[in-house]
Amino acid sequence: MTSHADDHIICIIGAGYVGLVTAAGLAEAGREVRVVEVDAHRRAAVVAGISPIFEPGLDELLGAVVASGRLRAVETMKEGAAGAGIVIVAVGTPPTHDGEADLSQVRHAVDQALAEVAPGAIIAIKSTVPPGTTRALARDSRRNDVTFVMFPEFLREGSALEDLRHPSRVVVGGEDIAAVQRVAALMGGSGTTRLLCDSVSAELVKYGSNAFLATKISFINEMAQLCELTGADIEKVADGMGLDPRIGRSFLSAGLGWGGSCFPKDVRALETSAGYHGQSFWLLKAAIEVNSQQRRRFTAKLVQGLGGSLEGRRVAILGLAFKPFTDDMRQAPAAEVIRQLEDFGAEIIATDPAAIHVARPLLPRTTLVADPYEAVTGADAVGLVTEWPEYRELDWGRALGLMKGRLVVDGRNCLDGEAIAGHGGVYVSMGRRPRGPGSALPLAVGEAGSGAVRPVPLG
Ligand code: UGA
Repeated sequence: MTSHADDHIICIIGAGYVGLVTAAGLAEAGREVRVVEVDAHRRAAVVAGISPIFEPGLDELLGAVVASGRLRAVETMKEGAAGAGIVIVAVGTPPTHDGEADLSQVRHAVDQALAEVAPGAIIAIKSTVPPGTTRALARDSRRNDVTFVMFPEFLREGSALEDLRHPSRVVVGGEDIAAVQRVAALMGGSGTTRLLCDSVSAELVKYGSNAFLATKISFINEMAQLCELTGADIEKVADGMGLDPRIGRSFLSAGLGWGGSCFPKDVRALETSAGYHGQSFWLLKAAIEVNSQQRRRFTAKLVQGLGGSLEGRRVAILGLAFKPFTDDMRQAPAAEVIRQLEDFGAEIIATDPAAIHVARPLLPRTTLVADPYEAVTGADAVGLVTEWPEYRELDWGRALGLMKGRLVVDGRNCLDGEAIAGHGGVYVSMGRRPRGPGSALPLAVGEAGSGAVRPVPLG
């Protein structure tokens, strides 16, 4: 244990997504950063200045800060914590079987840090943890010369560096105001809004933000269903709603719903946490249900568009990552949709600009190809799952010429339906009328939508 805690030296435990991006950002801002990573491969990549994860701009930044000596990847806590004023815990909190956050990695990291940090150091919890966790860690700590704060992160995959350089807000929670202020000074500039609060509130700011955004998406997806039943257009509805500054247009894009490593895990963890305290958080239960329903609605459109059976049919899937600009397939709608289509007897050929190597072990029955035109060749139908710009810009005249069938189901409402119909395709999307020949198709399996407004029975 070193005798002096210096806030210029930051130790980050975990070179995962959050840890690595945060480390690179803090080093760029001039701090001396050490990342403690147990995985030898991951550590070796960072030592070589190469990002072990896919994130636009991270390779370049990592290369620069490692070369300058401001960021070092180390194996042991002893090397990492020596002299550090702030230790940031950025390890995973994966869901347990019951949907709770598994805190074993957090506890292990904290124990290790407590054994090594200098007196006066702060342990900042960046991992997403249930309300009360930071307080409990502080209570169980055997060191009263170390303070704990909760320091939630709001980075989005694919634009993490931008979010880090220009944070929407910096939130730090803790019972020791001096420690909270020291951690709040780490991020953002003079114009950044900083919210300083107690640790439980900070924990709930994080869960509440993700759960609210996920609920917003589920809300618009339910509206999309109603649009199909009444003949309205969800894009117009979302635009109109979004013009109200109190609502805003972001996170009102209807489609296949939310996936990724955060929303599914955090919504469930918050719901479970509420249950632990005796509250049934009905809104979150509904948001989860709507989200899984969206995936089934999408596959139903393919089944229905192909005449009710997928047996022996070939379907091309565009997009595997849970969203564009990442290769992350955790809780990706593509995996669930493809497995279901395969169970229904379809042969799937799928493509993605970044995630094919991730998909290979997850989807053993699926043919994976890099070129979207190769994917659509001979396909009875195309299903778009991830809205990569490459797919918006496809030459649909060429693509439809290569396909055997005519059906294009757009799970993200991102394609030009008129252009597809103009080339003779049948364009089906989420919450809008189909376009093209034969598009009098009912819109959703099991639903009575014909595009007409049905009178409400009186009395
Ligand atoms: C999310 C939050 O946006 C970040 O603020 C947070 O820090 C992060 O989780 C986390 O907890 O670590 P991320 O998982 O990278 O970030 O993805 P988002 O861009 O938020 O998208 C989440 C999902 O919602 C994606 O599957 C996306 O396709 C879907 N989505 C998003 C929609 O279906 N419709 C929309 O209108 C917006």
